[in-house]
Amino acid sequence: MGVAEAVSGRLYGIGVGPGDPELMTLKAARIIREAPVVAYPAAGAGESRAREIAAAFIPSGRTEIVIRLDMRPGETPAHTYDVAAAEIASHLAEDRDVALLCEGDPLFYGSFAYLYERLAERFSCTVVPGVTSLSACAASSGRPLAQRDEILAVLPATLSEDQLERQLRTADAAAIMKVGRHFSRVKALLTQLGLAGTAHYVADATRADEVSLPLTQCSSSDAPYFSMILVRREARA
Ligand SMILES: C[S@@+](CC[C@H](N)C(=O)[O-])C[C@H]1O[C@@H](n2cnc3c(N)ncnc32)[C@H](O)[C@@H]1O
Repeated sequence: MGVAEAVSGRLYGIGVGPGDPELMTLKAARIIREAPVVAYPAAGAGESRAREIAAAFIPSGRTEIVIRLDMRPGETPAHTYDVAAAEIASHLAEDRDVALLCEGDPLFYGSFAYLYERLAERFSCTVVPGVTSLSACAASSGRPLAQRDEILAVLPATLSEDQLERQLRTADAAAIMKVGRHFSRVKALLTQLGLAGTAHYVADATRADEVSLPLTQCSSSDAPYFSMILVRREARA
């Protein structure tokens, strides 16, 4: 999408995977090593998980752009993306490639999309796919996400109770993302629907601090932002 009219740098949206640096693709590692400018999001004033994953591949002395985001849904103002897009654009306009790091896959619920839509019509862009948290959590749970003709629903926990319930009643399997402070509410709904017994909870998949448990064994009332609940009905005959 989008071809630059004048000579300019290329924007790379790089999926760095869910946490374990060994799950980065060879292509991601090469582009990060070569790009003169590396940009990445960070939650609030904290460290950037995307940068942390890719750290071993970023040569010292590279220009780095930190994009400070509010991870609460809808809380990052458009202005933040406008400012970040303008800073990235200034490098691209001077013929410097920019590697924009994205946790997981750039186009799977990634904030990358907000920058992509601001830059892709003016500059050449390449998206490098990454291992999603969905695949990482399934691997950690040791169970298929879905098989045969089953329908898998991907549901943000930020949906209303009614929306979640409606989707969970019809899907054969579901991945509930963005669990965080919605953990208790989601667990109660799954219990009410008779789905808690087969649900699996995964936090920080593929990282050293990964937690992976049947949902019924989770005693906490809260969960970290980087967590997911996988639900699967009993396999149909
Ligand atoms: C904004 S979405 C980003 C998804 C990411 N682009 C991907 O491809 O997986 C953030 C949500 O992804 C899930 N997530 C991301 N990384 C995770 C991990 N390592 N373990 C568990 N869940 C994760 C969580 O549900 C989190 O709330």
